[in-house]
Amino acid sequence: MSVPGDAGRVARPYRRGMTTDTVQPQSVADSHAWARVFAAVYEPSLWIGERAGMRRHRHDLLTQARGQTLEIGSGTGLNLIHYPDDLDGLALAEPDPSMRRRLENAVRRSERRAQVIDASAEQLPFDDASVDTVVSTFVLCTVDAPDVALREIGRVLRPDGQLLFIEHVRSDSPTLARWQDRLAKPWQRFAEGCRCNRATLELIEACGFRLDAHPAAWRAMPPMIRPLVVGRARL
Ligand SMILES: C[S@@+](CC[C@H](N)C(=O)[O-])C[C@H]1O[C@@H](n2cnc3c(N)ncnc32)[C@H](O)[C@@H]1O
Repeated sequence: MSVPGDAGRVARPYRRGMTTDTVQPQSVADSHAWARVFAAVYEPSLWIGERAGMRRHRHDLLTQARGQTLEIGSGTGLNLIHYPDDLDGLALAEPDPSMRRRLENAVRRSERRAQVIDASAEQLPFDDASVDTVVSTFVLCTVDAPDVALREIGRVLRPDGQLLFIEHVRSDSPTLARWQDRLAKPWQRFAEGCRCNRATLELIEACGFRLDAHPAAWRAMPPMIRPLVVGRARL
């Protein structure tokens, strides 16, 4: 039954004593609880990997950011300290509320001028051709529709804009790739949607980007997320 004057909205049955906004299926409540835990353990679980080389990869990549810069899936803000000071603007998009709270705290602590926004990579609240640099570090493995996200990135980028990325990817080694396939489901549940077997570099290329990227290794991390690609993509 439609509510008059509110096209498309469906009226829900209401029972006395029941508030519809507090009732949610157990699986949804569990997934929200895990999202909070995941956000809390995210940085501690990456700590060794950051020290073993990831911090250097982030630094080398992000010093290439310029102009109006948009980072998608910013997480807890591990990239924040690596951006050049002379950007025209820095927007940090993060759809997960638990991650976003930590990100806001990281921005406050850093005293850097950056705008934190609630947005997913598939729907970016930016005009066409309005961004010089988009940054994605370990995000295209997690988004549900990476092709949609990549087209959206292409839409907001200026014609001479760049996508800077670090992503873990499907291994070139058939043995490791088979293990990535076997572990894909449990890993996806554990790591909040991350697909350890996704061929992200091929996806970026298939969406019309030209690549300037190199392989690397995520040292001190589990083998199924160790193969990396680091680089730049342009349309
Ligand atoms: C593995 S974390 C990476 C965080 C950060 N970029 C880093 O390098 O540490 C993946 C992030 O992507 C975010 N994310 C998940 N789905 C997304 C989507 N559809 N669009 C944008 N970000 C998303 C998650 O909330 C999470 O913060």
